[in-house]
Amino acid sequence: MARNDNRFMTGIASARTALACNGGPPVRDPARPWPRWPAPSQEAERNLLHVLHGDRWTLTAPLGRAESFERRFARMFARYTGTRHCVPVDHGSSALVIALESLGLRPADRVLVPALTWTASASAALRAGLVPVLVDVDPVTGCVGPDDLDLDVDARAVVAVHWSCAMADIPAIADVADRHGMVVVEDCAQAHGAEWQGRRAGSMGRIGCFSMQQGKVLTCGEGGAVVTDDDALAPRLEELRADSRRHRSDSGRPGEQELVETGSIMGVNFCLGEFQAAVLCAQLEILDRQHEVRARNFAVLAALVDEIPGVRLLRPAPAQTRMSIYEVPFVFDRLPEGMTNADIARALTAELHTSFYITDTPLHVTPLLRPWTKSTLAPLADQFVALHRDRTFPNASRFYEHSVVTHHSTLLGSEPDMADIAAAVAKVAALVQD
Ligand SMILES: Cc1ncc(COP(=O)(O)O)c(C=O)c1O
Repeated sequence: MARNDNRFMTGIASARTALACNGGPPVRDPARPWPRWPAPSQEAERNLLHVLHGDRWTLTAPLGRAESFERRFARMFARYTGTRHCVPVDHGSSALVIALESLGLRPADRVLVPALTWTASASAALRAGLVPVLVDVDPVTGCVGPDDLDLDVDARAVVAVHWSCAMADIPAIADVADRHGMVVVEDCAQAHGAEWQGRRAGSMGRIGCFSMQQGKVLTCGEGGAVVTDDDALAPRLEELRADSRRHRSDSGRPGEQELVETGSIMGVNFCLGEFQAAVLCAQLEILDRQHEVRARNFAVLAALVDEIPGVRLLRPAPAQTRMSIYEVPFVFDRLPEGMTNADIARALTAELHTSFYITDTPLHVTPLLRPWTKSTLAPLADQFVALHRDRTFPNASRFYEHSVVTHHSTLLGSEPDMADIAAAVAKVAALVQD
């Protein structure tokens, strides 16, 4: 049927009025619930009560008889990521700040950061006295690739972000970075447990940084961690997050302090509290089971979406051997006439009664990355502005304008839930005219 055929146009108009957001019947019965998030384990409750009724609410309190949850989590998470050291912190942003500070770069050195990420990936560089330089991302995975690294700006580090459910190719990025004097910091805020050819996110760059903020697959509300195999960096990272103090080398006696005033590099207080660490120890125990459920559902959903013309799920690169699904991007090659992807997100939310939304605003257009609004950042801001005058980010912009995402908790549901999602996506995709 031709696009200007009257019957075709009438068909499109009635398909539009059939959308739940326009008063039509929704794909899914609103009474059917979705999985809740956060999903606390029973052990989390026991651990929290243990902290509440004990005398150590923070690692800076005097030593007790038992190991702190903070120390226990550090051991567990180093093992989970396949690294030698883990330094827990209060936020993923703090993890990135101390990671960059620990490298001993010069003031205002440049750091490459992909445009498609949360603002903290770049604002951390500014907080560490460095200048973030935004680069574009791979058109398939949405992650920075080796060819995206701008070698003309003489950067000293790259913050390689694993985005949504895909991973950046860290071995290939490290190969380029090594040859050009850059250090690779992995931003794994969205990738706990993801694997690239069997290697865990966070274990391939010099340092890996994680966020445990509420939306993340491993969460305690607000939290973070840095991991590394580098024995020289680990004590620096400890000092940078604990007012220049480091863990004592012996186990100490009850009543003594756990941190000693070593002061080899000046830090601030980014310590993780015991309540958060207690929750993380418990949640880490159930993370892999949750990963399995999400991976199974992702496979079901991907097969269903493959049948819908013009829409695809973001697929990781073949070398990614395990997904950690933080968000699921649905990429619409073309948008229905008169609709933006934000309209599609609203339509899907109305059909399914679970939140669909657009990705974080890319950093070249976000209102959140404006260093010139803070007087102490002025010298870095001038360079930031000058460096970005003529830059474009077509792949990041395309993801921003053509994809709609849902949170990983939606994938903790059942196969029929995946069928509902696919049916709603098909209903909206049918509005795209040939
Ligand atoms: C890619 C990325 N990096 C860094 C962060 C910052 O983590 P936090 O919010 O824990 O400071 C986030 C959080 O959303 C993120 O998604």
